[in-house]
This record gives sequence, structure tokens and C-alpha cells, in this order.
Amino acid sequence: MNKWQFDEFKHRGVDYSKAKQAEIYDEEHQKFRDYEQEFRGMMDFLGLHNTENMTIVDLGCGTGATSIFAADLFKTVYAVDVSEVMIEKAKRKLDKNVHNLKFVNAGFLSYEQEGEPVDLVVTKTALHHLPDFWKQIALLRINRMVKMGGLLYIHDIVFQFDPQEYVSKINSWISRFEEVAGEEFRLEVEIHIRDEYSTFGWIMNGMLEKAGFAVEKCRPYDDFMTEYACRKVIEMNCKETA
Ligand SMILES: C[S@@+](CC[C@H](N)C(=O)[O-])C[C@H]1O[C@@H](n2cnc3c(N)ncnc32)[C@H](O)[C@@H]1O
Repeated sequence: MNKWQFDEFKHRGVDYSKAKQAEIYDEEHQKFRDYEQEFRGMMDFLGLHNTENMTIVDLGCGTGATSIFAADLFKTVYAVDVSEVMIEKAKRKLDKNVHNLKFVNAGFLSYEQEGEPVDLVVTKTALHHLPDFWKQIALLRINRMVKMGGLLYIHDIVFQFDPQEYVSKINSWISRFEEVAGEEFRLEVEIHIRDEYSTFGWIMNGMLEKAGFAVEKCRPYDDFMTEYACRKVIEMNCKETA
């Protein structure tokens, strides 16, 4: 490995490698999220039906907010995360009869999809853990994982506001979180802004294009949370060895 390679297993910002973080994750997030409703919303947004023969990769799967529901509808689900404890928590939530959900302890920059490219790659509130340069590399690697004409779904915190308004936009966003999820979560959102790597919408659009994806739909539902439905339109050839 090159000495300049970003170490994606070293957590920056919120530390998801800590057992305590994995333990409280669902309780905290369910104060403002409904995982099942989010999953149904994603399927509608992507216009996906008849998925029983499709394969999906969930990058940054966490405690399985998407993967566990996907296992009901897709043939095979690969759930990938750099945090062993988040994966352990997801496994504990799993019904023993589920055999088509495979967990992999890897990340955007290290996961290798074995066999045929997949129909869909999903990543939810995880890509912002990489600085922009490495997001671009991650998107190029995702291009390799997805079949031509296949889909990439991104749901993440992406700044959609005018940069000149950053102070008021960020302060009011943080206050809204505090109202619904309390003081503890406020601290987490502050960590997000300060120490993690959310980027601007136009930068994300440029990176997706450079990675061979066409953005078919983009739904920002405040100035922060944004969903993207992207289709692979170009086969990229990003070499990872000299
Ligand atoms: C906010 S959680 C989101 C989890 C889940 N997708 C959800 O919707 O609840 C972020 C997750 O991204 C993971 N993560 C951070 N950096 C990553 C990387 N480079 N590759 C894969 N996962 C990563 C963390 O371990 C954590 O589980």
C-alpha cells in the first residue's frame, strides 16, 4: 500500500469503532429516523421493482438500517463497513433465517466486489467520512463495482446553500437537530460540521460525472440532506497499481 493512502479504518469525527457508539446508534437515530420508511422511500425514488434477482452493495452499512430491509427484496446484499462493532450490532438484529446478507469489514477504498458487477450500490450518510479527493477515488471504485446501466444511490449531508450564508444555515440546522434529538446529538452534529467532510452540491455533481455516473434525480430536502439516483453511463478504467 502507498504511504500516502488515506487510512479509512482510522475514524475521524464521530468514532464508530467504539462499542458504546454502536450500542447507542439506533436509539439516537430513531429519534429522527424511521429506517423502514427510509428504505421504502429509497425504493420509490429509484423506481425499483422486481428486485429478487438483483445484487446490492451497501457501503458504510452501519447497524444495517438499509441492508436488513434490502435482504427481504434483493437476491444478495453485501453490507460493508470499516467498523467491526457496527457490523456486530447489525448481525445481532438479524433474523437467523436470513442467508442472503453478507457482512464485510472493509470500506469505500478497500472493498473488492468479487464476481459480477452489481445492480445497485447504496451509501447512506457514510461518504462524508472521506475528504473530497478520496470521495472521488471511492466513486471511481464504485463505478467498477456496478454493472453498466446499474444504479448508485447516495443519501448524505451535502451542502446545498449559498456558501456566503454558511453561519446562519449551519446554526439553524444544528438547532433543529437539538430540538428533535437533544443536547447529546447536538454535539454529534457539531462534530460532523467540524471534523467530518461533507461537501457542496456542485462539487458532488462534478465528482459523480468524473466517475462515469449521470445524476438522474437529486432531491435535497433541506439545505443539507440530499438523495441522488445516479446511473452508470461510462465504464471508467481507474488503475490502482502503477
Ligand atoms: C452515520 S453512520 C451510517 C450508517 C448507516 N448507513 C445508516 O444509514 O444508519 C456512518 C457509517 O459509515 C462507516 N464508515 C466510515 N468511514 C467509512 C469508510 N471509509 N468506508 C465504509 N464505511 C465507513 C462508519 O463506520 C459508520 O458505520
